Amino acid sequence: MRYQIFSSNHWKCNALFWWCIAVLILALSAMVADAIAADTERSSEGQGEGVMRGAYLARVGNCMGCHTTKGGQPFAGGRRLSTSFGIFVTPNITPDMETGIGLWSEEDFWQALHQGRSRDGRLLYPAFPYTEYTKVTRQDADAIFAYLQSLSPVSQVNSPHDIFFPYNSKSLLAIWRALYFKEGAYEPDQSKSETWNRGAYLVQGLGHCNACHTTRNILGASQDEALAGGQIMGMNWYAPSLSSHLEAGSGGWEIEEIVALLTTGITKRAVASGPMATVVRQSLQYLSQEDTYAMAVYLKSLSENVSSNMPGGVSFSVMSGSLRKHMDLGGKLYEEYCQTCHGSDGKGVPGIYPALAGNRGVTMDSPMNVILSVLNGGYPPTTAGNPRPYGMPPFQQVLRNEEVALVVSYIRNAWGNRSSLVSAVDVDRSKGGNY
Ligand code: HEC
Ligand code: HEC
Ligand code: HEC
Repeated sequence: MRYQIFSSNHWKCNALFWWCIAVLILALSAMVADAIAADTERSSEGQGEGVMRGAYLARVGNCMGCHTTKGGQPFAGGRRLSTSFGIFVTPNITPDMETGIGLWSEEDFWQALHQGRSRDGRLLYPAFPYTEYTKVTRQDADAIFAYLQSLSPVSQVNSPHDIFFPYNSKSLLAIWRALYFKEGAYEPDQSKSETWNRGAYLVQGLGHCNACHTTRNILGASQDEALAGGQIMGMNWYAPSLSSHLEAGSGGWEIEEIVALLTTGITKRAVASGPMATVVRQSLQYLSQEDTYAMAVYLKSLSENVSSNMPGGVSFSVMSGSLRKHMDLGGKLYEEYCQTCHGSDGKGVPGIYPALAGNRGVTMDSPMNVILSVLNGGYPPTTAGNPRPYGMPPFQQVLRNEEVALVVSYIRNAWGNRSSLVSAVDVDRSKGGNY
């Protein structure tokens, strides 16, 4: 992965050069991927079908993403998750007898996933998304358990959570559960196709999309209808609504484009960034074609009745003085710092630099993610479909808050985009988090 800032004169020949390199890398990585696939098949010969299915389902649930520290042993826990209630440290779920779940039975595991209770009866915190996993079937839970039990045990003692008063109180957790947790099962909607139901089952259950894409109340409970979007706890990122056409609703998209976003993390008008890039990289890219397709069918149906051509954001009939000033000053900054990659027309370069024109991640009401993208830079996820993503450099040290506000206001209102202006205070606020 690399940053690449082109000077405009060299753009054409450079683009061709990098294109050739990209094709070469694609060819090479396809060979490597084949070799790895063959290897994995060999090493899983003799393992039960349940274990294989469990390995796949653990990917869908992204168990490894949370239960692994950077550079640590997979599933051995120790990853620290910051939330507004304190820091949760994920436990070891390898089959080690002393420090992991080696002594657990299928029943114990089912109780954890389905009811949020540990083997010793302790109530678990919903930082473990059992509020969503409760919809996973017993059969799928057993397969995941069989897979976890087939791993090599890792001896790694669990660290205690570091949760603020009063959230560390056991009785508060019991009250929380009584108020907000309902043990459940996925109930198929008979009026819908089997594919739609498969997609709904994955999105609502193991995929735990609602763990981020929802508004939470002060006690961290999901507040509104499913997938309506919200600020992620303990992070500054905003997870957009998956049902609103103004945010990330995909009612007006072709199924193929939704599938491409979920598997490669980048399409001509969207890119998965920040925490969503992680979800694609660690989990969604590994889904089978059928399951990705099913997810896309379900996601599309969440906002099916809305035309994709409806304008987004605020509409300005006349350009106000304040807007004109932002557009002038912001436009100059854009030309200097952004245009080489995102283009003077804001259309980017397909599959390499995302379009900012017509990009709902840029125009949606909450400016948080756009500001974070400019401050922190970033990469689309590394996936089989996009093995060496081009990155964006961070501008935190390059631009002052006022300048970030101007350039962000500019891209939210140039090329037919229409959205609210952003102030230096918004930029400052977005620097407060820990992501
Ligand atoms: C968003 C992060 C996250 C994801 C994803 C996640 N977990 Fe966890 N898990 C946690 C946290 C945090 C705890 C500790 C909760 C507590 O101690 O109250 C936990 C606890 C557990 C426990 C209880 C262990 C014990 O010793 O009591 C099990 C079992 C478990 N997770 C399995 C899984 C499986 C299986 C998956 C994937 C299907 C998964 N987790 C995905 C964060 C996560
Ligand atoms: C860890 C939190 C988290 C989880 C879990 C999560 N998302 Fe997201 N998602 C985000 C954030 C943050 C964004 C906004 C950044 C962006 O646009 O990529 C986002 C953006 C998206 C977008 C819009 C991308 C774009 O740029 O148009 C889609 C579609 C999406 N998520 C689907 C899903 C689905 C489906 C799942 C479950 C399989 C899921 N998300 C799970 C955090 C999450
Ligand atoms: C070197 C090329 C490069 C430059 C220069 C650059 N960007 Fe980017 N930009 C990218 C890439 C690559 C991504 C995708 C990164 C990601 O997904 O995190 C991106 C992503 C973004 C996004 C997020 C889009 C989305 O859908 O989530 C915004 C907003 C953005 N850039 C704005 C800017 C602005 C404003 C500037 C100038 C201050 C700028 N970029 C300069 C390459 C660049």
